[in-house]
Amino acid sequence: MTTLLQINASLNNGGGQSSQLANQFVAAFRARHPDAKVIVRDVAAADPVPHLDAERFGAFTAKPEARSARQRAVVAYSDALIDELRQAEVIVLGLPMYNFGVPSQLKAYFDHIARAGVTFNYTEKGPVGQLTGKKVVVFATRGGWYAGTPMDTQTRYVRDFLAFIGMGDVEFVYAEGLAVSPQSREAGLAKAAAEIARLAA
Ligand SMILES: Cc1cc2nc3c(=O)[nH]c(=O)nc-3n(C[C@H](O)[C@H](O)[C@H](O)COP(=O)(O)O)c2cc1C
Repeated sequence: MTTLLQINASLNNGGGQSSQLANQFVAAFRARHPDAKVIVRDVAAADPVPHLDAERFGAFTAKPEARSARQRAVVAYSDALIDELRQAEVIVLGLPMYNFGVPSQLKAYFDHIARAGVTFNYTEKGPVGQLTGKKVVVFATRGGWYAGTPMDTQTRYVRDFLAFIGMGDVEFVYAEGLAVSPQSREAGLAKAAAEIARLAA
């Protein structure tokens, strides 16, 4: 049985354009893998991930036997997020662009899953990611057009972060021009839908 983890990062909850494209992909995936287990993690709207602060980061770095009850709860929350990633062979990420970057709650999620000694190890040859053997499909939605230009720092950042924790097999599907005109929106969504059909084939 394949496990798919869908991560939604839109502040518009399931109604976000990125979540809807991710939903379309997941529906096509389910059609091909009827016995697949699908886990949905909404990091921004339904179940926002809190920002990392000194207390939370201190919980990660404290020795397990020295952790307070609050620190144990923080680590248990992070462990649960990581466990979902470990379970999944396929990860689908709905990725809106907000103010040229990723949603701040997605950054907070990344801050909770990047754990030294857990999801990556520092070695003499540099950091080695531990979450290997996964396929990631990212649905990147934007009001304007950025893909393939130097303005698209979002793609590079997400690729680098995922590679850091071991996920090198990452495919981006873009829906761009969504806020410019009805025509550009339609064209952007049609292009993404065609990509979904290609990926599902
Ligand atoms: C707070 C906010 C900031 C945004 N910033 C950008 C931006 O920097 N560049 C851009 O092209 N579109 C921007 N947009 C438009 C979104 O990328 C676009 O509406 C996209 O569909 C959002 O995905 P979602 O519907 O899944 O939330 C922004 C939208 C919001 C709400």
